[in-house]
Amino acid sequence: MPYTQPMDAELLRQYLEFYQDLGIKTLYRREAVAGPAPIPIPMDLPPLAPVGQALPPANPVPMDLPPLAPTGDTLLKIVEDIGDCHRCRLSEGRNKIVFGVGNPQSPLVFVGEGPGADEDAQGIPFVGRAGQLLTQMIEGTAKKEGIELLRKDIYICNVVKCRPPENRNPEPDEMEICGQFLHRQLLAIRPKVICALGGVAARALTGHKEGVTKMRGKWFQWQEIPVMVTYHPSYLLRQYNQEAKREAWEDLKKVLHYVYD
Ligand code: URA
Repeated sequence: MPYTQPMDAELLRQYLEFYQDLGIKTLYRREAVAGPAPIPIPMDLPPLAPVGQALPPANPVPMDLPPLAPTGDTLLKIVEDIGDCHRCRLSEGRNKIVFGVGNPQSPLVFVGEGPGADEDAQGIPFVGRAGQLLTQMIEGTAKKEGIELLRKDIYICNVVKCRPPENRNPEPDEMEICGQFLHRQLLAIRPKVICALGGVAARALTGHKEGVTKMRGKWFQWQEIPVMVTYHPSYLLRQYNQEAKREAWEDLKKVLHYVYD
């Protein structure tokens, strides 16, 4: 439901923090009009504070924003709220919404970028070639490290739930719109660790703008949950990335030992 009431400063601060967590700098104010889709108007926000610092106070501005995570939120409720989503242009080309898969009580969540062709066809994240590599990495590394763990034991989802055309990166407004659901999803699961796969997920979760090569192997935080950044498995599928593969295995080892030791 569009938010049309003037918002108090504290609520607005919470929204800004929420969008900062998703790495989003620009919000779009929609005009409250009936009929065709509203035209987004870019609204400049003050520069984002470094992660861990409070945002500067902002003026209360009525905005069309989604509700923050409701109390007692569940994955089922989030799926219901997503419904047959047409909130952004990604819905135009999708076959299936790809919400997430795995154990909803998992202490470990992997977050990718967005569905590819196979995922769009099946409605399940990471089932294509990159997904097979991810499964192999998780299960293989766990086994080698003496940890009993299968893919079904963890939870996997993406920043956006519909396939971007030609597998392009999701646009900021698409991440903003879909980000509310990722946010709720992660809060509903509240894992011990989140592993961000690739630059899009890393930037969305940490707010940092560096490339993935700089961020990988390091711990960040999202809502006080430790976030490990590593390479996206699609990147690792490129033959010349042997070194990156080794590094990703190292990152995964850190994650698994932190969660399961
Ligand atoms: N790449 C992603 O980022 N997510 C998927 O689900 C599949 C491929």
